[in-house]
Amino acid sequence: MTARKTRVCSRSGPAANAVSRRRLLAGGIAVGLSARGYARAFGANERVRIASIGCGGKGFSDLLDTAKSPHADVVALCDIDESKGHLGNAVEKFPMAKTFTDWRRLLDDAAALDAVIVSTPDHMHAAPALAAMHLGKHVQCQKPLTHTVFEARQLRQAAERFGVVTQMGNQIQSHPAYRTAVKLVHDGKLGAVTAVHSWQSGGMPWRKLDDRPAGGADVPAGVHWDEWLGVAEQRPFQPEIYHPFNWRGWQAFSNGQLGDFGCHILDPVFMALGLTAPLSVRAEATPMNDEVWYTKSTVRWTFPGTPRTAGPTVDVTWYDGPGHKPSLDTLGLVPGDLPPGKDGAEGALPGSGSVILGTKASLVVPHFAMPYFVPVERFVGTTIEPEAARDHYTSWIDAIRGTDRTTSPFSYSGPLTETVLLGTIAARHPGALLGWDSAALSLRGPAGASALLTKGYRDGWQPAWV
Ligand SMILES: NC(=O)c1ccc[n+]([C@@H]2O[C@H](COP(=O)([O-])OP(=O)(O)OC[C@H]3O[C@@H](n4cnc5c(N)ncnc54)[C@H](O)[C@@H]3O)[C@@H](O)[C@H]2O)c1
Repeated sequence: MTARKTRVCSRSGPAANAVSRRRLLAGGIAVGLSARGYARAFGANERVRIASIGCGGKGFSDLLDTAKSPHADVVALCDIDESKGHLGNAVEKFPMAKTFTDWRRLLDDAAALDAVIVSTPDHMHAAPALAAMHLGKHVQCQKPLTHTVFEARQLRQAAERFGVVTQMGNQIQSHPAYRTAVKLVHDGKLGAVTAVHSWQSGGMPWRKLDDRPAGGADVPAGVHWDEWLGVAEQRPFQPEIYHPFNWRGWQAFSNGQLGDFGCHILDPVFMALGLTAPLSVRAEATPMNDEVWYTKSTVRWTFPGTPRTAGPTVDVTWYDGPGHKPSLDTLGLVPGDLPPGKDGAEGALPGSGSVILGTKASLVVPHFAMPYFVPVERFVGTTIEPEAARDHYTSWIDAIRGTDRTTSPFSYSGPLTETVLLGTIAARHPGALLGWDSAALSLRGPAGASALLTKGYRDGWQPAWV
């Protein structure tokens, strides 16, 4: 693998401290959006007018699930790919909605909308979400909330400043399985929590190449490649390499396996323990260049203790890569402590999930199925009452109307995303202990680590920072 320096047009954010806020607001996307809009109040019979940005892939189910609300109307659809599998399906389902291939044009008619769903690839969450919030629009945004730590902090601050209703798309949080795990910890069933181990041991089917390919191919008719790239620097189109789905393999567009699954799998851990910001993070990872994500990592965050933890600090350790899980030894377990597999096979940890270790008991939280206590023989006859499900999508509409609340607002999902993304910075500096001062947004560690809190933005595409 060859190391290649990513070329950027400008760096921004306090971490890089290279471009002043004034200059950002004077250029790019911020122009025309600086007039602050505020979310309006809804009458009992008023409907919420929603727009979808990125309505193929996961965005299609986000749209369908949100549109199930009897109080929502889909008024606008935006996708950079006009084909059937992307914009086409959504148009078929919502033929009355206006269509766009550039979200900036969708937001030009801000008066026609109340709320926006952002389900684009990760590098393009922050720019449309921030622009929408500046206009006073409520935002539902896919996980991880953003591509960088600085962007996550910005989304959190924008939600607060503009008073909009927000929800990150970590929808598994609302399923009975994760809700039950959180409740068991909150009810003190584990005693005090001593440590947590979380993992995603599946493959990475989106990791197609080890380095950026030379040359490019013709962009298919109906695909708007420049809009797909958005804030990222120019690179030629390549079929099957980036769009759709396989952008996950590339640092310019994603945060690899931890970025993809961390905001799901660490979510019940964060919520159960009441975690906020880590004090430090250290990682080991397979070697990587500046283009493609590693294939295996182990990341350990140390958090300040909370009323639910045993000590003044608590460690959360993450494992990813094919077959990479904590050893039973690490968890203080033997195979007989786990439920037996099919046909009496020896007990094994699920393919992905967490083990929350406590002073009274430990809990396996599969991703995602009902949790169970271990060692199993100590809990024979113990029944776990499942928590009721919530609707992650329609609750956002109800929260906008003032009749419910969201459970993953940016005030919660921002810090969760920051934590996950700090892990991916640590994995790019294997073995180094990185100290995190969340209030100051300051990362201590080897040269270069702090610069990864933010990234460069293509000229003309700088987000509208708050
Ligand atoms: N919550 C979950 O369980 C879950 C599952 C899958 C994906 N996701 C998240 O959803 C997001 C999308 O992932 P995906 O797998 O659907 O990706 P994808 O590439 O398959 O689909 C993205 C869609 O957005 C469109 N798009 C891309 N750039 C756009 C832009 N600038 N403006 C408008 N449309 C644009 C694409 O054409 C495509 O239709 C990611 O953030 C991902 O992490 C979440």
